[in-house]
Amino acid sequence: MKVVILKDAAAVAKYGANIFIKQISRKPDSVLGLATGSTPVALYKELIDAYKSGQVSFKKVSSFNLDEYLGLNPTHPQSYRYFMNQQLFDHIDIDKASTFVPPGDAEDPFTACALYETAIKQKGGIDIQLLGIGRNGHIGFNEPSSSLMSRTRIKTLTRATIDDNARFFGPDEYQPHLSITMGIGTILESKKVVLLATGENKAEAIKATVEGPLTAACPASALQLHEQVVLVIDEAAASLLSDVELYKHIEIENQKLLERLGRA
Ligand code: F6R
Repeated sequence: MKVVILKDAAAVAKYGANIFIKQISRKPDSVLGLATGSTPVALYKELIDAYKSGQVSFKKVSSFNLDEYLGLNPTHPQSYRYFMNQQLFDHIDIDKASTFVPPGDAEDPFTACALYETAIKQKGGIDIQLLGIGRNGHIGFNEPSSSLMSRTRIKTLTRATIDDNARFFGPDEYQPHLSITMGIGTILESKKVVLLATGENKAEAIKATVEGPLTAACPASALQLHEQVVLVIDEAAASLLSDVELYKHIEIENQKLLERLGRA
């Protein structure tokens, strides 16, 4: 697993955004896997700035979001579709018809899950998947005990996740306890994975992801099986790793090699 440890959240967003910009430059019709939550917001701002300065175009890009609350329609301010429009899609030149978020308002959510998997396959699979991580190690809404081979499906949120996300809902507002989420198997099929984590409250989950056993108790530990995954994290999220200096040393050596090969 490649672990890149940077000073702070701003550096994490910049580094993460550059990976996406390079990906789109190499392959303008890239299929992106996208995430919501607080962590990717700064990365999305970087992408918007890069688009506005002419560094990148999203015209041919398509995207699939990881998850959506079941029971919220796309115009609901707490829905992840609404979030994506506000935080990214409304500010770049992406064709909204090529952006996919699981339908939280589907009449038949079971069929909708299967169709989501088919749609990803029809686009040729996800080239690069962006992830955040929950304090309990969840990725997407794959909560602890999720099958490591799972596909897009309906998942019940844990109490911890409901409490963590309560900050986005008003005191009397309906907060769903169910979601549609890509599965861990779906995520593992994407060609590359970029996981962002910032802040001390993610340190335990990061330690379990990188140095813990492969276990459904920490869904993100399944990423140990992925060939091309990079964790871009700040010092605080890295604070419980056993040998921070080693990961930093590896990154410096990697960068030197890329520079020598003219691929930095
Ligand atoms: C959201 C998602 C979740 C979040 C995670 C961390 O699409 O996939 O797994 O990435 O809950 O959320 P934040 O970034 O708000 O700490």
